[in-house]
Amino acid sequence: MESFLIKGGVPLRGTVEISGSKNAALPIMAAALLTDEPCVIRRVPDLSDTRFMVQILKSLGAEVSFNRGTVTVHAQKIRGYADYELVRKMRGSICIAGPLLARLRQARISLPGGCIIGARPINLHLKGFAALGANIKIEGGYVDATAKKLTGNSLFLGGRAGPTVLGTANVMMAATLAGGVTVIESAACEPEVVDLADFLSAMGAKISGAGSPTITITGVKKLHGAEHEVIPDRIEAATFIIAAGATNGEVVLRGARADHLRAVIDKLGEAGVSVKRRGKNLVARSGKLKPVDITTLPYAGFPTDVQAQMMALLALAPGISIITERIFESRFMHVSELGRLGADIEIEGPSAIVKGGKPLSGAPVMASDLRASAALVIAGLAAKGETQVNRIYHLDRGYEQMDEKLRKLGARIQRIEEKA
Ligand code: EPZ
Repeated sequence: MESFLIKGGVPLRGTVEISGSKNAALPIMAAALLTDEPCVIRRVPDLSDTRFMVQILKSLGAEVSFNRGTVTVHAQKIRGYADYELVRKMRGSICIAGPLLARLRQARISLPGGCIIGARPINLHLKGFAALGANIKIEGGYVDATAKKLTGNSLFLGGRAGPTVLGTANVMMAATLAGGVTVIESAACEPEVVDLADFLSAMGAKISGAGSPTITITGVKKLHGAEHEVIPDRIEAATFIIAAGATNGEVVLRGARADHLRAVIDKLGEAGVSVKRRGKNLVARSGKLKPVDITTLPYAGFPTDVQAQMMALLALAPGISIITERIFESRFMHVSELGRLGADIEIEGPSAIVKGGKPLSGAPVMASDLRASAALVIAGLAAKGETQVNRIYHLDRGYEQMDEKLRKLGARIQRIEEKA
């Protein structure tokens, strides 16, 4: 297993190229199952998750190639049930269910298990499919959705923590080939949902309202092939902006979109990290760090996928910051590991109380999930001495060439075989 060895204390300087969005690419790759014609998807990040999705699409019978960020999918002849182990391993693969149900009137996939950040049920996905007329059966670890025909319907898709991103994506995809009109209320408004709707529209789908809480889909008989370029990864961009802030650096981000990062840029401004436009790029510059309070919310609120990275930054800001996680029940796995580096953080129910300003010092730490591992890398870059971040396979799921990009910004970071 691999680790990162980081010698901290170097201000990051230079330019970083932001990759395509993992969370947009995954449902867009699955959406190619909706047609028997070829689809070309560009700017797909080379990650273990996107490579997993390629395997899953191939296991369904699609011809798939992935070269230099371009994925071509030709789902001419496919089957409605995916490999149990493959789907079980990556939660994001749940988004093949909507396209399979729409195209074949049958989707049989393994139930995604729980996850370290929360229970993450799929009841809202299934509620949406049932509202379109599907029969849902859960047996032997599989969910089986079948339908003689799918019929448009109006449904409310809000849950315990508000809208669901992949649930909205799944129901929107299933509705594209249903008879009649579907109206999704309390839909997720994330940019990744809008990007998917743009791709589906390029395939001939009739969708309006994506990006708002009410999405209307008028079903069509058939969809055709299309080409699409995936949006930049706003979570990767936020991670590099925060790394610049935590290391007293200045970083130019090429390809990032400020309009997808408003809540993040706003809170960082309050915390002393400025983000300005320079031509097509963004420039992140560190300043005197200040404590702020954060509550994670559905988009356009502060993203839960940036909560851990922000906590690493606020551990450096003198004073008390309160971070409240409202989306996932147990997304504070990084707190104890940040504590190993000297951070002073206490958990009180859904909130973490960060007593910031104490200098961090390097230590061996363990990554537990994708964004927690990004927070440990940021803390290691800011800490005095050497930090070893173990189990970085978590990071490789969602960050393309993170160590190379950081080295280009002057970071002293190496990928090594995990030392016992
Ligand atoms: C997407 O997951 C992202 N993943 C997550 O990013 C992100 O954290 C999340 O949206 C929230 O922004 C991908 O796009 C691949 P949800 P998703 O359904 O769609 C509850 C990362 O780090 N819920 O919006 O699975 C759920 O338990 C990952 O890149 C139900 O109760 O998240 C959670 O509390 C991590 N029933 C809340 O809703 C359902 O049927 C939001 O989850 C579905 C969800």
